[in-house]
Amino acid sequence: MCGIVGYVGHRQALDVVLGGLRRMEYRGYDSAGVAVLDGEGALTVGRKAGRLANLEAELDSTGRAGFAGTAGMGHTRWATHGAPVDRNSHPHQDASGRVAVVHNGIIENFAALRAELEADGVEMASDTDTETTAHLIAKAYADGDTAGDLPASVRVVCRRLEGAFTLVVTHADEPDTIVAARRSSPLVVGVGEGETFVASDVAAFIEHTREAVELGQDQLVVITRDGYEVRDFSGEPAQAKPFTVDWDLSAAEKGGHEYFMLKEIEEQPEALTNTLRGHFESGRIILDEQRISDQDLRDVDKVFVVACGSAYHSGLVAKYAIEHWCRLPVEVELASEFRYRDPVLDRDTLVVAVSQSGETADTLEAVRHAREQKARVLAVCNTNGAQIPRESDAVLYTHAGPEIGVASTKAFLAQIAANYLVGLALAQARGTKYPDEVAREFAELEAMPAAVQKVLSTVDQVRDLGRKIAESKAVLFLGRHVGFPVALEGALKLKELAYMHAEGFAAGELKHGPIALIEDGLPVVVVMPSPKGRAVLHAKLVSNISEIQARGARTIVIAEEGDETVRPFADELVEIPAVPTLLQPLVSTVPLQVLAAEIARTRGYDVDKPRNLAKSVTVE
Ligand code: F6R
Repeated sequence: MCGIVGYVGHRQALDVVLGGLRRMEYRGYDSAGVAVLDGEGALTVGRKAGRLANLEAELDSTGRAGFAGTAGMGHTRWATHGAPVDRNSHPHQDASGRVAVVHNGIIENFAALRAELEADGVEMASDTDTETTAHLIAKAYADGDTAGDLPASVRVVCRRLEGAFTLVVTHADEPDTIVAARRSSPLVVGVGEGETFVASDVAAFIEHTREAVELGQDQLVVITRDGYEVRDFSGEPAQAKPFTVDWDLSAAEKGGHEYFMLKEIEEQPEALTNTLRGHFESGRIILDEQRISDQDLRDVDKVFVVACGSAYHSGLVAKYAIEHWCRLPVEVELASEFRYRDPVLDRDTLVVAVSQSGETADTLEAVRHAREQKARVLAVCNTNGAQIPRESDAVLYTHAGPEIGVASTKAFLAQIAANYLVGLALAQARGTKYPDEVAREFAELEAMPAAVQKVLSTVDQVRDLGRKIAESKAVLFLGRHVGFPVALEGALKLKELAYMHAEGFAAGELKHGPIALIEDGLPVVVVMPSPKGRAVLHAKLVSNISEIQARGARTIVIAEEGDETVRPFADELVEIPAVPTLLQPLVSTVPLQVLAAEIARTRGYDVDKPRNLAKSVTVE
């Protein structure tokens, strides 16, 4: 969940590295740091707690002249070991200051390594797990078989590390070389003309090149300005996967929007279109990768969806569709709980792992657990070649484009659409839907980008509403059927962005407890089902709204256009287009995203970088 970047080339490394960090700050913003090699044996390090802007301000005040050089690296941190203070910021160095290391991930055996170093008389300058690697690499570079060989020194240390990590390492004695290694954390190489990059994410170098190489598990890359060389941790030549990034710089920029999140909310129709594109050909749903047979899909007798946060909510939505279309039991499980409760899995179980980043540690471990139990795993992922799809038996990519705002918006909508495609693929394989029915469902999905666009054209009312309720202490969200996970998602968005107490409930549960929370003026957002598509549930929700309104709640009702029955009970009515019931989450979620963003802005918060959070959570 930290962002790391390394560069060797012909430009000033400091500018390239700071540019890369700016685009990766969504991965963590507790501290930032840089190291630059001047080509003559000097290694200069700068690091500062807080956001990248703090480091840049410090560099401006102390002068950037000491950072001249065309090789360097940088880091933006989400703190795990040690508080977010200057001394725990990366890069970390050995005692001589000749080695610098930046790291993403967790070194699980760091306590033992630290004790060993301390017993050798090494004095630690930080509380981090990372610092141990700087000392160990310096030691390997100083003596023995690996003396004077930086790649070999890094390899020998990597073999001793347990956990997930990406390391980027420099040594002042090798000023034109950067070494990077990966195990279970992301690392890509960017190949330019006379310059080479390494980074956690292609966004860091997309401004300079779209030619990239994805490193495999336990691989180490040496970059110079002339190119790169990949080996495994024992030093044998290894294959990495070259690819061309299919989006450009504009996708990773705000494009005139105040925040990435607001841009990403507006990109949702496009994200849905791109997710659907190419997944229905010659009358059949197509997955992006399938390493299991069609017979394996036919044999599936139970589905688990495992995911975290918003991705989990997308799974809760999909349960309604997959059970309905496929007549298969579907359990939706928080990935962090899944492997700790001995779930019943076998080779006929399909585990659908949903993850925008493809690197969420809880979801990755759930995938590993499922595969150990012989279950088949299908990943729904937004990041090409990330660890979760790499370890899965089949993959469906969401193609939502880079999501940089920490709160998930377009990826969430794309996940719902992709999960539905998984449901249709299963229905097709099992024959629970005829081909023409699958085609009809797909056509309905294809109409959704236009419906979402329509919602987007009416969000000014939601922004006004957000400003009006921004000072409330809490907000409740109610829904039923597919509207229930939407209520959960609305509450999560508000919590994470506006730091307000927010809860989502299944409306039928109200009278079993939550109604006690209703008091004068409390905003309650209600996601109404269609009065035609779900008439019975609609009537029950109307009576729920009247009950809470009678007890003083301020009712904010998200309802289908023309739903007049609800009007008398709505203090505020937000209309959404009429769409098939199972697809309603794709339109009803949008006003809730806008509401949360507007409340957060009104309260003065940075909606792209909510406190304590980072975009991808690579620790359990
Ligand atoms: C909420 C949010 C998170 C993520 C969760 C899973 O807005 O973004 O709850 O949905 O951390 O992340 P991925 O999908 O990358 O596994």
